[in-house]
Amino acid sequence: MVWGQSTYRTNGWDLANHMTPPVPPALADRVWIVTGANSGIGKATALGLARLGGTLVLACRNAERGEAAREEITRATGNDKMSVMIVDMANQASIRSFAEEFRRTHNRLNALVNNAGVFRRHRHVTADGLEETFAVNYLGGFLLTHLLLDLLKASAPSRVVNVSSSAHEGGRIHFDDLQGEGRYSGFRAYGQSKLAQVLFTYELARRLEGSGVTVNACHPGVIRTNFGRDDWPWAVHLVRPFFKSPERGAETPIYLASSPEVEGVSGKYFVKKTPRQPSPLSRDPTVARRLYEVSLAIATLDR
Ligand SMILES: NC(=O)c1ccc[n+]([C@@H]2O[C@H](COP(=O)([O-])OP(=O)(O)OC[C@H]3O[C@@H](n4cnc5c(N)ncnc54)[C@H](OP(=O)(O)O)[C@@H]3O)[C@@H](O)[C@H]2O)c1
Repeated sequence: MVWGQSTYRTNGWDLANHMTPPVPPALADRVWIVTGANSGIGKATALGLARLGGTLVLACRNAERGEAAREEITRATGNDKMSVMIVDMANQASIRSFAEEFRRTHNRLNALVNNAGVFRRHRHVTADGLEETFAVNYLGGFLLTHLLLDLLKASAPSRVVNVSSSAHEGGRIHFDDLQGEGRYSGFRAYGQSKLAQVLFTYELARRLEGSGVTVNACHPGVIRTNFGRDDWPWAVHLVRPFFKSPERGAETPIYLASSPEVEGVSGKYFVKKTPRQPSPLSRDPTVARRLYEVSLAIATLDR
């Protein structure tokens, strides 16, 4: 069977039916990181990538949950080139230690999937003094990507995949109140964080043009996971059983991280493995540049 379009088009079904697709050597040699890989879309993405072969780092904040996921994925795929590395995406020091440890133990990185995310009905503040949704969903991935950028460049062709959401469409970047100190609601913070991911995708793709590192964002669908379980309004719990499976949610992140069909494709927003036009605001280069500059400062990164 030739590894190509048809295999990827049916990838979700292969996962669902626990079939193992043929592994091209190029994929088996790859090194991938998935953040938030112990649950939901991240775990299903890790499982799909593990099935392709390659070395997989499950970037999780809790060792027990991470190990449980690793064991489950190894059992399902037979891939034993997997490790759990601890990172709290809400904590910049933890992200820096993770990046340092990763660089010490790996000499390349072919794809980074920034997936970890939260929905918080009430405002929570991280150890760095940031609102948690902003810190985990957006800034953590922004910082981690930058700390691994030279490795991504040295491993080119390589990829960054930002798991955003269609919720970005209702978001605004509140430059005068990024941390929701003046006014907070879970939806406002979530929409802002998901919009920030799409803006970051566009800005970084522009900055990385010609480097061999591609950056894309996606909406995974409305998926039945642990997401915001304790914080969603009751109405969401009523309709939750009708959401799609995590395997379906992982189809687009797996596609963006691994498919030859998107080799060289950068600065796009995908839904169901297809490029879609995100909100007009998310495509505004002035807003993207401003957010990027502000983010470098908050993450104390050099320009
Ligand atoms: N589910 C949907 O319908 C949907 C729709 C659009 C977009 N998304 C996006 O998809 C991504 C994955 O969400 P999901 O639906 O799969 O939810 P999930 O099952 O709750 O998974 C979220 C993952 O993020 C991890 N995480 C949260 N805070 C973290 C932190 N501070 N440091 C490290 N990891 C952290 C969680 O770890 P713990 O298990 O330790 O908490 C978990 O592994 C999110 O970015 C979300 O915004 C989801």
